[in-house]
This record gives sequence, C-alpha cells and structure tokens, in this order.
Amino acid sequence: MKQRYIPITVIVAILAALAVAGGAMPEQAQVVPARTVMDNNGGRVIFSHRIHADEYGFECADCHHDDIGQERPVSCGSCHPKAFDETFRSEHFKAFSSEDACLRCHDDVPGETLAEEDRPDTGNIPLRADAFHAQCMDCHEENGGPYGAESCYQCHAR
Ligand code: HEC
Ligand code: HEC
Ligand code: HEC
Ligand code: HEC
Ligand code: HEC
Repeated sequence: MKQRYIPITVIVAILAALAVAGGAMPEQAQVVPARTVMDNNGGRVIFSHRIHADEYGFECADCHHDDIGQERPVSCGSCHPKAFDETFRSEHFKAFSSEDACLRCHDDVPGETLAEEDRPDTGNIPLRADAFHAQCMDCHEENGGPYGAESCYQCHAR
C-alpha cells in the first residue's frame, strides 16, 4: 500500500532540490532569456537575446525602454499587445508591479474603473508586430542585421 506514495515523495524531493538550486543561481542567469521564440503569422522568429545583449554589446535600455522602476524588464507585449481590446483592458495592469508603470500610459494611477475621457490615446503606442519590426529593423539599418523588403526570411522561418 505505502509503496504507491514513494514516487510522489521522490518528485517532491526533486522539486525541492531544483528550487534550492534555482535560488542559488545568480539573478541574471535566471531572469534574462538566452533565446526567445516568437510565434506569429509571419513565421516563427528566433531572437538570440544573449547574443544581442552580450556579443553585440548593447545596453538593456537600448531595447527595454520601459523605465518603470521594476527590478527586471517586462515583456514588450505587456505594453504592445496584439490589440487594445477587451482582454487588454481587463488584464494589462496585472503585468506590472510598480505605479510608475501605469504612468507610462496613464496621466494618474487609475483606480478600479476609468472614465471614457481619461482613457489613454492608443494612437501613438505601436501594436506588437509593429513595435518589434520598428525596433529590430531600425537598429539593424544603423548597426547591421536584417532589415528591409528582402529581409523577411532572415528572421521568419518559412
Ligand atoms: C537587442 C534588444 C535587447 C537587448 C539589448 C536586451 N533585451 Fe531583453 N528582451 C528583448 C526582447 C525583444 C525580448 C522579448 C520580449 C517579448 O517577448 O515580449 C526580451 C526579453 C527579456 C526578458 C523577459 C521578459 C518577460 O517577462 O518575458 C527579460 C527579463 C529581459 N529581456 C532582460 C534584459 C536585460 C536584463 C538586458 C540587459 C542585460 C536585456 N534584456 C537586453 C530585447 C533586448
Ligand atoms: C511599460 C510599457 C512598455 C514596455 C514594456 C515596452 N514599451 Fe515600447 N512603448 C511604450 C509606449 C507607451 C510607447 C509610445 C511612445 C512613448 O511613450 O515612448 C512605446 C513606443 C515604442 C516604439 C515606437 C517609438 C520608439 O521608441 O521607437 C517602439 C518601436 C517600441 N515601443 C518597441 C518596444 C519593444 C521592442 C519593447 C520590448 C523590448 C517595448 N517597446 C517595451 C511602452 C512600453
Ligand atoms: C502600455 C500602456 C498602458 C500601461 C503601461 C497601463 N495601462 Fe491601463 N490602460 C491602457 C489603455 C490603452 C487603456 C484603455 C483601453 C481602452 O479602453 O481603449 C487602459 C485602461 C485601464 C483601466 C480601465 C479598464 C476598463 O476596463 O475600463 C484601468 C483600471 C487601468 N488601465 C489600470 C492600469 C494600471 C493600474 C496600470 C499600472 C499598474 C496600467 N493601467 C498601466 C494602457 C496602459
Ligand atoms: C539595438 C540594436 C538591435 C536591435 C534592437 C535588434 N538587433 Fe538584431 N542585430 C543587431 C546587430 C548589431 C546584429 C549583427 C549584425 C552583423 O554582425 O552582421 C544583429 C543581427 C541579427 C540577426 C542575424 C544574426 C543572428 O544573430 O542570428 C538576426 C536574425 C536578428 N539580429 C534578429 C533580431 C530581432 C528579431 C530583433 C527584434 C526582436 C533584433 N534583432 C533587434 C542589432 C540589433
Ligand atoms: C529583424 C527581424 C524581422 C524581419 C527582418 C522581419 N520580421 Fe516580421 N516579425 C518579426 C518579429 C519579432 C515579429 C513579432 C513576433 C511576435 O508577435 O511575437 C514579427 C511579426 C510579423 C508578422 C505577424 C504580424 C501579426 O500581427 O501577427 C508578419 C505577418 C510579419 N512579421 C511579416 C514580415 C514581412 C513580410 C517581412 C519582410 C518585409 C518581415 N516580417 C521582416 C521580426 C522580423
């Protein structure tokens, strides 16, 4: 009878060991991705985060222009969603842990609801794909790397 519980004990022990190992790792190794895979309608894009940050020698802030007083950058999609739709309205603030983040788009830190006239103008906040295309390609045009009309498949998998 008791035998049945052994595998669970083993799994719990392994998870506990992993948690300890994770806690002992340097902060950066944990939170900064080496590569990110971006799935989308244009074909998957693999972005070598570590190579861009280390080998090409850019600062975090060259790309993460989200100076919002949080310890680590948040994903671009938290502010540049696929659409400013109902899901964005009801979910977006959960991605942030600082009030400075709200002030990136709102005039004041919003309460529960927001009057129509207090809603941010989304006209100058690029949507997700536009934000990526603009940032990736602007820098490539200046510093090397794929950009322009013929460059699509240097980033997108066919
Ligand atoms: C060349 C541009 C670039 C540089 C330089 C860069 N990053 Fe990023 N970083 C990105 C992109 C693009 C993503 C993917 C964001 C997404 O999927 O929305 C990302 C993702 C991240 C994430 C994961 C965010 C999440 O919650 O999904 C962290 C953390 C991060 N970067 C930290 C850093 C740190 C720290 C530095 C400096 C050592 C740095 N980055 C340098 C472009 C860059
Ligand atoms: C905390 C919110 C926030 C995060 C996170 C964020 N942005 Fe933005 N971004 C904005 C806002 C707001 C604007 C509108 C113009 C402005 O206020 O700077 C903007 C503007 C832009 C623009 C157009 C203007 C410019 O600066 O060139 C690009 C391109 C862009 N973001 C790309 C990105 C990318 C790529 C990431 C992730 C590496 C990212 N953003 C992360 C809020 C954010
Ligand atoms: C990237 C810009 C951006 C950031 C950062 C941001 N917001 Fe918003 N927020 C918006 C936009 C845009 C709307 C309005 C969407 C619409 O109705 O068109 C909105 C709407 C809201 C609403 C009204 C939701 C509803 O259903 O009526 C609340 C509440 C809110 N935000 C709270 C916050 C809080 C709290 C923070 C910080 C923790 C925050 N927001 C950060 C862009 C942002
Ligand atoms: C701040 C500048 C900067 C930004 C932003 C940037 N890159 Fe780059 N990228 C470079 C440089 C510099 C190179 C190297 C060019 C060379 O050596 O020929 C490069 C090379 C590349 C290459 C070809 C070599 C490789 O690493 O595979 C790809 C693919 C690439 N970048 C994808 C992206 C994507 C996707 C984004 C946006 C999410 C992005 N880059 C954003 C600067 C940038
Ligand atoms: C420097 C790398 C790079 C180049 C070059 C590039 N893209 Fe992209 N593209 C991206 C990234 C990154 C995304 C956003 C992925 C995501 O949403 O996670 C994207 C998104 C897209 C999307 C999805 C839009 C959506 O709303 O889902 C399409 C379609 C697209 N690109 C087409 C193209 C075409 C056509 C070209 C050539 C003219 C091109 N791309 C060149 C990196 C690139």
